[in-house]
Amino acid sequence: MRVVEAFRAAFGADPETVWHAPGRVNLIGEHTDYNDGFVLPFAVPWGVTAAVSPREDQTIRLLSLQASSPEPVTMATREESRGWTRYVVGVLAMLGDRVRGADIAVDGDVPQGAGLSSSAALEVSVASALNDLHGLGLTPMEIALLSQRAENDFVGMPCGIMDQAASALCEEGHALFLDCRTLGSRNIPLDLAAKGLRVLIIDTQVHHEHAGGEYAKRRAECESAARKLGVPALRDVDDLAGALDRLQGDERKRVMHVVTESHRVEALVGLLRAGATSEIGALLNASHLSLRDQYEVSSPELDVAVEAAVRGGARGARMTGGGFGGSAIALVGEERLEGVKESVLAAYRERSWTPPRFLPATPAKGAHRLS
Ligand code: GLA
Repeated sequence: MRVVEAFRAAFGADPETVWHAPGRVNLIGEHTDYNDGFVLPFAVPWGVTAAVSPREDQTIRLLSLQASSPEPVTMATREESRGWTRYVVGVLAMLGDRVRGADIAVDGDVPQGAGLSSSAALEVSVASALNDLHGLGLTPMEIALLSQRAENDFVGMPCGIMDQAASALCEEGHALFLDCRTLGSRNIPLDLAAKGLRVLIIDTQVHHEHAGGEYAKRRAECESAARKLGVPALRDVDDLAGALDRLQGDERKRVMHVVTESHRVEALVGLLRAGATSEIGALLNASHLSLRDQYEVSSPELDVAVEAAVRGGARGARMTGGGFGGSAIALVGEERLEGVKESVLAAYRERSWTPPRFLPATPAKGAHRLS
């Protein structure tokens, strides 16, 4: 393994453990996690492999095979971390006194900027390895929560639990149905190939600068709306029409999206359980329109990809992840795969946009130990 060789070359010994954790795509349930709603992500075949050994002192040495420098970054304290190292040091910080220093080498192959949660993969791979090394006995959900806290409190990104939970808990061939309030979860079989279907990731390769700020703004709007409605979270809105009557402007639109989107997750799970996988397309389309018009987190590149995919024969398509760029997904019958790609490429060509990248998404396995 390449990361083990790099570890040995940099730190002069074999790593004591090696863990892999994947990125994710979200089938449906967007911007519902921090509203205590439902989500349905699955793990992608790309992720981060972390080779780790503990240290007796407080020193942290970090090597990334994707970094511009082949030299490890050495930090005497957790306060010194910058850039990508914050995701790793954040995890160490959340583990507190339970862990001292560590030597860590990471190797990742999550397509960068595609919105496939490379940061969650990094956090969860390192957290899982440290949990294993120090015999901490954390469950996969506890590892996800700790990784989310690292991102919230250390990196400063106010994300929900979806990405880290998907990375820690998904099973191969399944999507993870997660209740973001109770944190109860169930892996739902998603055997696309048996139905002659594929989920095609369309990576627009565009990432808008303001995404972080807009994400925090949406979260604040949801919290403000919940306060006005007198509920702990938008999850608790039962009477949607009544709630909408009491709100105005953007908050009204945000509530409309969150409440309907969370119900779409349950409806989609119902179809999957009934074996009606090819019927989920309409829910994907409805999710996209809601994200575009009510939640306002799509982008021209995502809208064009989704519309062209459907025109080209996809059963349904939607943006996936936080939005403002990143990727869309399309549910496509095998026989239509080339037609869908061609339709999307033609739409981009017409606008003189850089062609998107197509990635096949087969539901992969969550965090696991490699050696
Ligand atoms: C990002 C966040 C997740 C979730 C999605 C939107 O990926 O990290 O917690 O909120 O956006 O569904």
